Amino acid sequence: MNTILKTEDLKKSYKIGKMEVPALRGVSLAIERGEFVAIMGPSGCGKSTLLHLLGGLLSPTSGSIIIDGEDISKVSDAKRTDIRRRKIGFVFQRFNLFPTLTAEGNLKLAEKIHSGNGNGNAANRRDVLRLLKLEDKMHHRPLEMSGGEQQRVALARAVINSPAIILADEPTGNLDTENSQIVLDMFRELNEKFGQTIIMITHNPEAAAVCSRTIRMRDGHVVD
Ligand SMILES: Nc1ncnc2c1ncn2[C@@H]1O[C@H](COP(=O)(O)OP(=O)(O)O)[C@@H](O)[C@H]1O
Ligand SMILES: [Mg+2]
Repeated sequence: MNTILKTEDLKKSYKIGKMEVPALRGVSLAIERGEFVAIMGPSGCGKSTLLHLLGGLLSPTSGSIIIDGEDISKVSDAKRTDIRRRKIGFVFQRFNLFPTLTAEGNLKLAEKIHSGNGNGNAANRRDVLRLLKLEDKMHHRPLEMSGGEQQRVALARAVINSPAIILADEPTGNLDTENSQIVLDMFRELNEKFGQTIIMITHNPEAAAVCSRTIRMRDGHVVD
């Protein structure tokens, strides 16, 4: 067994004024290196909260999160940010690309955020864009691309720094069937070729079908 990510009795409540809104009520799970996991469940059951906790974008109310042997629930915000930059790539439903930058420019920016300088490896950038069938879009800006192409640039950005784990929150939620299929194929290819661990929230049973396992959530719990 080679566990890359593990949580124990993970809980998260949001504070709204004086009220505490529980979003996660105690989640324990383990994900092995190289798994491609789907997270499914009704709206509001805590999927995004779990993903944000796993990626160090939020800190838990209680419980632990161990990524690659490091307990990110017990470190400072600065240290958690550092672990996130080194180990995690995010893909969101809204592509969040910089509209004024080209596909290549968006990748360069991700490299800069990762390493502090903007001179990443041009050959690596080309390889990633080629893998995602975006070579001819390298110098295009987001508005000059289809939704599926934009999501593939977002995927390229998430993998450009070779993170061990990719976390995706409804990555096909804004795409039509054809573009969804293309993006899912790319996820699967990244998973198969590079053994990257992928955790993907989805409402789409066809998307879940390409995954090796589905985690089902309800009301802040994992139910299956
Ligand atoms: N920033 C927030 N502040 C307050 N409540 C939130 C916040 N984000 C999510 N919630 C609440 O937490 C619960 C789980 O939300 P979320 O994790 O977004 O669920 P899902 O992604 O499964 O739809 C919901 O009841 C939601 O209203
Ligand atoms: Mg959500």
